[in-house]
Parts: sequence; structure tokens; C-alpha cells
Amino acid sequence: MQAVNATKESGAERHFIGKVQSAVDPRTGVRQVSCEFDSAGYQPTLYPQLGIALPEPIARSLPKRQAGFLAGRYAAALALQHLAPVRNQDLQVGIGEQRNPLWPSGVVGSISHVGSVAVCAVSRRLDMDYLGIDVEVLIPTRVCREIATIVATRRERELLSDQGLSERVALTLIYSAKESLFKALYPSVRDYFGFEVAEAVELRLEEQSLVLRLTERFADKHKLPRDYQCQFTLGEHWIQSVTCGKFPGRANLKAVV
Ligand SMILES: CC(C)(COP(=O)(O)OP(=O)(O)OC[C@H]1O[C@@H](n2cnc3c(N)ncnc32)[C@H](O)[C@@H]1OP(=O)(O)O)[C@@H](O)C(=O)NCCC(=O)NCCS
Repeated sequence: MQAVNATKESGAERHFIGKVQSAVDPRTGVRQVSCEFDSAGYQPTLYPQLGIALPEPIARSLPKRQAGFLAGRYAAALALQHLAPVRNQDLQVGIGEQRNPLWPSGVVGSISHVGSVAVCAVSRRLDMDYLGIDVEVLIPTRVCREIATIVATRRERELLSDQGLSERVALTLIYSAKESLFKALYPSVRDYFGFEVAEAVELRLEEQSLVLRLTERFADKHKLPRDYQCQFTLGEHWIQSVTCGKFPGRANLKAVV
């Protein structure tokens, strides 16, 4: 078993890894780890120091990408340490053909990183069939106006603004929720799908939940249910979304281990 060096810190690690938080979200039952990191303190020797494998394509990428990948995989390794099915397995998370993370057997999970924060959510496959996490810094108003019609319909944006959310918060939330849905469903769909495939149809602000509905055509094509609940967290400058659940009638689906 390749353990992750979560406690043994050298000076270099202290300059790279900042505050780490780990908790089970009571709303979803999913283990979430967030990890602050500082790209300026990154150096390749941190990979062996933190017990994380450096895959060839990442080794060839820019230092900023290497730093984000490392922080995401470090958060993943810390999260995996809490799951019973993986205790005797290699804790490394591989890279799939479309950049999707490859989890140890018996695990579903997802990774996101933005700026100086990486987050990871994991669950036992027994408890969850699909899981996607996304964190986004609030999109600037100018950019919101440029991408609004790509990310969401007017009806979706009004659904959120009618409950008092600003243009920036509304669009960032829809964007983030859909990204988390994409990551959650990619292992079942095995193809890219755009923002137009899902529509935000219900916002429960007090419960911080948003229901996303797939188009009938897309859901039928992939034999997927249409509705997905996304639990979100609104920070001062960022939004985090987690879409997870179990497929009813799972035997019909082509979800991949
Ligand atoms: C791939 C994509 C989801 C990444 O999102 P992002 O906001 O740019 O970046 P994030 O930091 O949040 O997420 C990156 C992580 O997502 C994960 N990821 C990437 N591709 C993935 C895929 N196909 N399936 C699942 N997870 C994936 C990886 O773990 C990646 O980090 P890593 O490369 O360091 O391992 C996004 O760029 C994308 O292409 N989305 C597709 C379009 C879409 O979202 N449609 C909405 C459908 S309703």
C-alpha cells in the first residue's frame, strides 16, 4: 500500500500545502476534503514528498498545472484514507481517457481546483452511483454577460434571480452545478455533453439545493434518470456544487466501475 504523507511535513510542503479541511457533508453523506495550496511554493520534488505519483502527461505540463494536479490528488488521497473499501489498496488516482479521474475499485469520487484551492469528494460505490464536485470563483459580471446564453436559458436565470440572487451568483451557480453534473455523469455517458443538455428547474435556497433536469432525448439515449439534485455552498467569493446520488434501477445502466 502506498500511504500518503499527510502528517510528515518538510519545509517545502509547508510552503505549498496550506489549510486542509475534511468533513462528511451531512446533506449528502459524502466525504469532502478541501486543501489550500500556493502554486508559488510548488516544486516537482513535492510529488514524492507527499506520496503522490507524477504521471507522464502532467510531468510535461506547466508548473501551474502540476501544482493544481498535485493539490487535487493530495486532497483525494486524504479523502480516500477515510473509506474502508480502499484501506488495503493503492491510494493513487489515475487519469482516464478524457481526463476523468480513475478511482480505486469500490469508490466514486470527483476533484476540482480553482485558484489556490483544491477539493475532492468521495464515497463508497455501495452508497453512491454518481458523484461530481465543482468549485468556481464568482464569475465577473462582464464575463457573465458574454457566456450567459451558452450556460443557461433565460428561464433558468430568472428562476434564480426571482429568488434574489444577483446576476453573478446566479450564473456562477448554474455553471458550477452543471459542471458537477457533467463530472458525475461522465463515467456513465463516456462523452462530452454541453450546458444545453441540462436545465435548472427548481431552486431551494434555504436547503442550498438546485434540481437539474436532463433533456428527454439525452436521458433516453443514455438510459439515465432525468432529475439530479445538486447541493451547493455559497461562499463570499466562490460557489461549490456537489451532485451525487444513486440510480434507480441501476442494473439498466452502463455506469462504469
Ligand atoms: C472537464 C471539466 C468538467 C473541468 O472543469 P473545470 O471547471 O475546467 O476544472 P475543475 O478544476 O473544476 O475540474 C478539473 C477536474 O475535473 C476532473 N475531470 C476532468 N475531466 C473529467 C471528466 N471527463 N469526467 C469527470 N471528471 C473530470 C479532473 O479530476 C480534473 O482535475 P485533474 O485534471 O487535476 O484531475 C470542464 O472543463 C468541461 O469540459 N466541462 C464539460 C462541459 C460541461 O460542463 N457541460 C455541462 C453539462 S450539463
